[in-house]
Amino acid sequence: MLKNRPQELAIAERKLDEVGYLDIDVDPTLDLAEEIEKLKEEKNAIILAHYYVDAEIQDIADYIGDSLGLSQKAASTDADMIVFVGVHFMAETAKMLSPDKKVLLPDLKAGCSLADSCPPHLFKKFKEKYPDHVVVSYINCTAELKTLTDICCTSSNAVHVINSIPEDKGIIFAPDHNLGAYLIKETGRDLVLWNGTCMVHEIFSHEKITKLRLRHPEAKFIAHPECEAHILEMADFIGSTSGLLRYTQESDAKEFIVATEAGILHQMELASPEKTFIPAPPNNMCACNDCPHMKRNSMEKLYLCMKYEQPEIILPEWVIEKGIASIDRMLEISEKAGL
Ligand code: 13P
Ligand code: SF4
Repeated sequence: MLKNRPQELAIAERKLDEVGYLDIDVDPTLDLAEEIEKLKEEKNAIILAHYYVDAEIQDIADYIGDSLGLSQKAASTDADMIVFVGVHFMAETAKMLSPDKKVLLPDLKAGCSLADSCPPHLFKKFKEKYPDHVVVSYINCTAELKTLTDICCTSSNAVHVINSIPEDKGIIFAPDHNLGAYLIKETGRDLVLWNGTCMVHEIFSHEKITKLRLRHPEAKFIAHPECEAHILEMADFIGSTSGLLRYTQESDAKEFIVATEAGILHQMELASPEKTFIPAPPNNMCACNDCPHMKRNSMEKLYLCMKYEQPEIILPEWVIEKGIASIDRMLEISEKAGL
């Protein structure tokens, strides 16, 4: 931490809880990519970014991935500082996996509608109704919810996680109702579902996608399993962000209509510049499928957070100790499955 704090830093620190980030003006002439690179070296930091953040941030990240890949990276890095450019639950997961490291998130208010939909005190009551059930939680949940969870999963390994549970055991699945419904279909298991949804994946328009497909008859329609069932029913391929990216690389098709957050298109275009990627249209007048939480990250906030080492993710010890077992179990199952 800086010894001689400029006054503007002291003011920004006081406002941190309220605004979520260090609200300090950044010199607009600075080459932020270069400055961030220097800070990375100086502090032995690693920048982990999700596919949904802005392209310019993806371009300077050390690792870009889906929730599983990011967790695996957070668990194995030897950096002293993890700078997580994603959303709050992802940075919390990184902290649980590497409790001795400093974990930073450029904006603490980068949340997630799925995590918000499942407050731990309500889930605890819900869980009491099914005392013999195994609790599987999508990783898009708070650290505290992970303390009430037996096994976490991501969209990459959810089927493997469900299939790892003995057939005679009941299962509660939280918080994503759409992913849960998809898992019931894929595994044939009877899951008790919590009723949460992702605000980005629940707004795709069946009608607009159908019309778009008529205009692009050769295009493959690919979708993330957080989408609603009537959207998934139309899909040529369903997968996690990494799964969707891989599919576009391996497929012979030249056009793809993509039903997930539009940030992923950057990596798809970089990997297959000769192919065309069309974001699936949402059910409103907006032409974009941006996650407002992921998009709270910016180069300025990233730079400031690395410079001043704030905002930092701090978790109570009991949460880390109790919650980590569910993440470890997920990583073991993934390793066994070769994921
Ligand atoms: P994956 O990248 O693991 O598919 O998750 C998507 C998502 O919504 C992350 O918030
Ligand atoms: Fe949460 Fe949906 Fe945003 Fe992912 S895209 S962080 S699930 S709100």
